[in-house]
Amino acid sequence: MTALTDSLVEGAVQTVLEAGELLTDPAAVQSIRSKGETDYVTNVDVAVQAFLRKRLAALAPDVQFMGEEQDNTGLDWSRPCWILDPVDGTTNLIHSFRHSAISLALAEGGQAVFGVVYNPYTEECFTARRGGGALRNGVPIHVSDVSRLEDSLLSTGTVPGRRELADAAFRQMRALYDRCQDVRRTGCASLDLCWVACGRLDGYVELSLQPWDYAAGMRIAAEAGGKVTAPDGSPLSLREGGPLLASNGRLHSALQAILKE
Ligand code: IPD
Ligand code: CA
Ligand code: CA
Repeated sequence: MTALTDSLVEGAVQTVLEAGELLTDPAAVQSIRSKGETDYVTNVDVAVQAFLRKRLAALAPDVQFMGEEQDNTGLDWSRPCWILDPVDGTTNLIHSFRHSAISLALAEGGQAVFGVVYNPYTEECFTARRGGGALRNGVPIHVSDVSRLEDSLLSTGTVPGRRELADAAFRQMRALYDRCQDVRRTGCASLDLCWVACGRLDGYVELSLQPWDYAAGMRIAAEAGGKVTAPDGSPLSLREGGPLLASNGRLHSALQAILKE
């Protein structure tokens, strides 16, 4: 039986909206710790995760919890699991760039059956349930109908946590740039996916991401008519990360061909 009910969806969205206040306070960031060469965690990441973990456990005690700021070994993937990125766009948060999001998905049977991505700076809340379409603040959204790469606006990631991939990432960015109108780098994977979902972007590519970066956004983009896969077209895993290609669907094979070069 599915854990997903209307009241669980409502409760989860409400909790994510409440947690948004933890990001927008201008004095929110008090401490910054380095998890890797260019991978940071602040007191805000930790506080948002603790808040959501507690509140989600009260809403649905049987649902497991995967979060970026904890050890996630020992999860039983035959059972439902929340997948949370408490702050997607931590570097943006540290620099007051005002483009970060809380990204929460519910995984069941290896699929994200529900996703919510909230940008508290713009108060845009993207949501989707499997088979139910995608919404922005309750209003249906759809991917763009751009069908030629030369008419497209794309986004890429620079894989900041894995500098050894930088040459490949910038080569890829250049190859895409040569074929489209322009390339953006926003620093928030979940919002890149939502922006594909609502047609602001026509495609998005990143060489290495984690499940919490894309679990919610991939459901939202898919429900909005888009396609989200690995660059070779295979399905993405929610247990472990990898490279990602998202598009409005029409551009998917053309983008795949460029990424193969
Ligand atoms: C990062 C952002 C960024 C992407 C990185 C992610 P974080 O997430 O989504 O856009 O390029 O690969 O790690 O670390 O801010 O949660
Ligand atoms: Ca992230
Ligand atoms: Ca994060």
